[in-house]
Amino acid sequence: MISNQSGREQWGSKVGFILAAAGSAVGLGNIWAFPYVVGSNGGAAFIFIYLLCVGIIGLPVLLAEVLLGRTTQRNPVGTFKTLSNSKFWHAVGAMGIAAGFIILSFYAVVAGWSLGYIFEAVRGVFFDFSAPTDAEAHFNSLVGNPVWIIGMLVLFMFVTMVIVLSGVRKGIEKGSKILMPLLFILLLGVMFRGITMEGSSAGLYFLFNPDWSKISAGTVLVALGQAFFTLSLGMGAMMTYGSYMSKKDNVVSSSVQIVGLDTSIALIAGVAIFSAVFAIGLDPAEGPGLIFHTLPNVFTQMAGGYVFSILFFVLLFVAALTSAMSLLEVVTAYFVDEKKWNRKKAALVLGSFALLLGLPSALSYNLMSDFTIFGLNFFDLTFYITFNIMLPLGGFLISLFLAWVWGVDKAVVELKKGAESLFEKAGWQISIWKVCVKYIAPIMIFLVLLSSIGII
Ligand code: TRP
Repeated sequence: MISNQSGREQWGSKVGFILAAAGSAVGLGNIWAFPYVVGSNGGAAFIFIYLLCVGIIGLPVLLAEVLLGRTTQRNPVGTFKTLSNSKFWHAVGAMGIAAGFIILSFYAVVAGWSLGYIFEAVRGVFFDFSAPTDAEAHFNSLVGNPVWIIGMLVLFMFVTMVIVLSGVRKGIEKGSKILMPLLFILLLGVMFRGITMEGSSAGLYFLFNPDWSKISAGTVLVALGQAFFTLSLGMGAMMTYGSYMSKKDNVVSSSVQIVGLDTSIALIAGVAIFSAVFAIGLDPAEGPGLIFHTLPNVFTQMAGGYVFSILFFVLLFVAALTSAMSLLEVVTAYFVDEKKWNRKKAALVLGSFALLLGLPSALSYNLMSDFTIFGLNFFDLTFYITFNIMLPLGGFLISLFLAWVWGVDKAVVELKKGAESLFEKAGWQISIWKVCVKYIAPIMIFLVLLSSIGII
C-alpha cells in the first residue's frame, strides 16, 4: 500500500486522483441537472455565463480545497484543526461532514431511480407507451411505489458502501479507473446517436447560439450555483480527495484537468440530450423531469432506441455512483482519522445511517408526500438546506479561511510543491488565482447565499 509517513493511504497515481475527483464532480449534476437547467434558462447565453463562473470561481475554489487537503493530509475537520485553533473553523469542517452526509441521503434516492431505470430499459417498458404523457405517468407510478423507491435506494447505497469500504486505492481509485472511461465511452456513443438524428441541428443551435435577452441577475445566480454543485465544492469533498495526494503531485494542473473533464462532460451531455430532444420536437424546458419524462419518448422514436435507452441509464448510474462514493468518503474519512474507526466499520455504519435518513426523502414521493416543513417535503427540504445554504456557506468560508486566516502567501508556498516548473512560466496566473480566492469568489458566493435565503 502506498501511504504517507503516518501510514494514511495515498492515491496510487496522479491519474488515479484525477479520475476519482472527476468522478466526484461528474454526476447527476452534469447529466441530469445541467441539460435541464440550460433548457430552462435559455440555452447558449446561460452556458456562457456558466463557463465564466466555472473559470473565475469554480476553479479557484477547487484549487483551494484540494490544496488545503493535500497540505494537512486530513479530513475537513482535521484540516481546520491542523491550521487553526479556533473552534469556529473546526465547526466549519464539521458542517462539511454533515452536508456530505445529508446530500448522500437524498442523492442516493435519485441515483436509485437511475439504477431502477436500467431495469425498466432492459424490460423495454418505454416501447409499450401509447402517448408521450405515458412516460410521465410511468415515472410517477414508480416513484409512487414505496417498495420500488426504497428497494433501489438500498441497492444503490449497498454498491456505494462496498466500494468505499474497500479502501482509497482498492475501492475508490480502482472503481474510478474502470467507471470513468466507461462513462466517457457511453456518453460519446449516446452523443453520436443524438447528433446523427434528422433535425438534431436545432438542438445544437439552441445550445450554441446565444440569446442575450434571456440573461438576468437571476441567471447569474443559477449559473454560479450550478458551477458549485457540479464541481462538488463547499463541503470538503475535494479537500478529502486532495488529502490522499502526495506533495510531489501538481495541484494546479490536476485541478485544471478536473474542471476540464467536468465541463466537457456537461457540454457533451447537453449536446447528446438536446440534439435528440429537438430532433423529436419535444420541449427543452421540461425542467427536472427532462430525463425521466422526456427521454423515454425520444428512445421510442429513434432507431436503436432500445439499446441506447439501456446505455443511457447505465451512464447515469455510473455518473451518480462515482459522486456518491465521494460523499460517503468524506464522512468515512472523518471517522477513520479522528475517531480511529476502521474503514470497513465506518463505511458500513455511516452508509447505513445515510440510508435511514434517505428513507423520509424516498417516502416524500409517496407515503409522506403530505408531510411538509416550510411548505417543502422532506426531499426538497434537505435539498434546499444543503445546496442553497450549506454548500455556498461552506465555499464562502473555505475561501475566506485560505485567503485571510491561513494566508494566501502560505498557500502559495504549498501550491508550489509539485508544481515548481509550472510556477516558472505561470507567475501571472497564480496572481489571478490570489485575487479570485481573496476577493472575487467570497464576494460572489456571498451574494448567491443572500439571494438563496431571499435577502436579495
Ligand atoms: N458533483 C456531483 C454532481 O455533479 C454532486 C456531488 C458529489 C457533490 N459530491 C458533492 C456536490 C459534494 C457538492 C458537494 O452530481
